[in-house]
Amino acid sequence: MAKPAPVHTIMDQFEVSEQQILVGGKNLDLISAILDKPVFYAYDQAIVKKQIALFHQHMPSTIKLHYAIKANPYPALVQAMRDWVAGFDVASQKEMLLAIQTGMPVEDISFAGPSKQESEIKAAICAGVTLHVESELELSRAISIGQNLGIKPIVAFRVNPAFELKASGMKMGGGPKQFGIDEERLLELLPALDYTTMSFRGFHIYWGSQNLKVEAIQDAHNNTFALAQKLIDATPVEVKTVNIGGGFGIPYFAGEERLDLTPIGTNLRHLLDTYPQLAAIELIIELGRFLVAEAGIYASKITDKKVSRGHTYLMTNGGLHHHLSNSGNFGQVIRKNYPVAIGNKMGADSSSEAVTAVGPLCTPLDTLADKMHLTDPQIGDWLVVFQSGAYGPTASPQDFLGHPHVHEILL
Ligand SMILES: Cc1ncc(COP(=O)(O)O)c(C=O)c1O
Repeated sequence: MAKPAPVHTIMDQFEVSEQQILVGGKNLDLISAILDKPVFYAYDQAIVKKQIALFHQHMPSTIKLHYAIKANPYPALVQAMRDWVAGFDVASQKEMLLAIQTGMPVEDISFAGPSKQESEIKAAICAGVTLHVESELELSRAISIGQNLGIKPIVAFRVNPAFELKASGMKMGGGPKQFGIDEERLLELLPALDYTTMSFRGFHIYWGSQNLKVEAIQDAHNNTFALAQKLIDATPVEVKTVNIGGGFGIPYFAGEERLDLTPIGTNLRHLLDTYPQLAAIELIIELGRFLVAEAGIYASKITDKKVSRGHTYLMTNGGLHHHLSNSGNFGQVIRKNYPVAIGNKMGADSSSEAVTAVGPLCTPLDTLADKMHLTDPQIGDWLVVFQSGAYGPTASPQDFLGHPHVHEILL
């Protein structure tokens, strides 16, 4: 069988010493001993900081960077992020609590989510975080909860834009959607709202996620600025903030390239010149995986090796219950391999034999690496899945079959 295209370009963020991958300067045996766990996620702070620096290097300096906690809510990471980003986006009361307790100013925390319960709306109003209101009923609930409390809700409208992202990736705008209020309906509502019942902030225009196409992102930004201007024109009070979305993707699969931020930044600078009213207010980009996914690995141990009708299987102590997205069951249509390597044999030539690494679950879906050319994989070696710093443990069915939960470390 032909060897698959090399994926080394998307595993190059980590340091390697004596063929051992290092996370925060430590090899996997050391990390395992520190945690006292044989399978874990490890996140490298230096790589997160590098991604943040990359953002600032290319984006206009006036655009603020917010971290979408849903991508990785590991408390030590979120705490560290407190000093590295300008704000947090939260999607639940639990994430909100985490965000507040890092010491991030509440003015820089926003709460989005299409089905907020009254208790969550109340919690957000009491905390003073900005509600990204996603329906007309949610607005009236927020206003009446605010009136009962004697606290004005801080409101920004999440808009379901009429434009759609022109590319693959996760589309979250255009057509009918559960997210936000349709742009055309909002344009009707805005002139007639009673703004004395709320503390009005602005708009949240979120069009998609995991995008690797420069032109599609530029196009989305062009559409977002045009829409934001229309919304400002229709609003009789001051618009203080526009969140212009996020969506910057990271390469997961062979053949994918890292996103080139240079033309995206250039286009945004041009838009700021074209729309001076927008340039004068607070603009935010909110990112999750772009900041953290490349900084994380998932490391499990090979504990058995067997051959079935000529094909070699590596059995590991990790699996889909810890890392659903790597198994291909978190939104992917066709399963493709994440970059995987033997973490204690980095840099050596990979074997010509294609092997399959699996976990302990009684389902063929529990596949960590399918027919991959790894480097002489043996029992006791570390099987490392890269690009694992986002949508890992908290996006996985950890209780499925009752195996132990996975542990995490930030180094
Ligand atoms: C509103 C909102 N913000 C941010 C994100 C984070 O996306 P990503 O991790 O791809 O940056 C999402 C993802 O679904 C989202 O829905």
